[in-house]
Amino acid sequence: PRIVVAASGRGSNFEKIAEAVSTGLLNATLECLLVDRECGALEIARNFGIRSYLLSKPWHKSFDEIIDQINPHLIVLAGFMRIIPENLVEKYFPRIVNIHPSLLPAFPGKDAIVQAYEYGVKVTGVTVHIVDKGVDTGPIIFQKALEVDESWSLEQLEEKIHQIEHEWYWRVIRELLYRPFEIVGRKFRWLDEEG
Ligand code: GRF
Repeated sequence: PRIVVAASGRGSNFEKIAEAVSTGLLNATLECLLVDRECGALEIARNFGIRSYLLSKPWHKSFDEIIDQINPHLIVLAGFMRIIPENLVEKYFPRIVNIHPSLLPAFPGKDAIVQAYEYGVKVTGVTVHIVDKGVDTGPIIFQKALEVDESWSLEQLEEKIHQIEHEWYWRVIRELLYRPFEIVGRKFRWLDEEG
């Protein structure tokens, strides 16, 4: 199967996915990286010898053109700081996935880890979801909870959250590529699960 990753930042999640592909843990072809700005993810793509595109304006038009041409099985958002326009969500649903660093529906949008930290939650975590028309609202595929130790600094919480993302995102991608699923209403369900 073919996958495409879109990012805007550091690219640490992209890096883990590229690693999983290159070591054969994730059996897929990483066709390319799409970015909407100069960012760390580009260097990671270079290191792995993965083709990358800096999307030209308007970004969603080039995004659509490239994706349309590649026709990937999965479009993986990994810190891509843009809202996917409705027409593209409709066109590619349910093939766009996103990772969000909180337990949705808590703390959607930007700076979710800071939001959760400042709110003083005792439990937070990571969510992987299908992208729908809202911001961080789509059907939830996977969540991992993390208990927040009172002694942690924001930086420590960030590190723990990123560790969880890095451990799980590529695994969830692998499942999406290899297991049947259905989405009914807003509910995501694996079809090969017992019971
Ligand atoms: C991650 O925390 C992800 O959950 C959020 O953006 C961040 C991207 O980090 N959507 P990186 O660029 O993968 O290091």
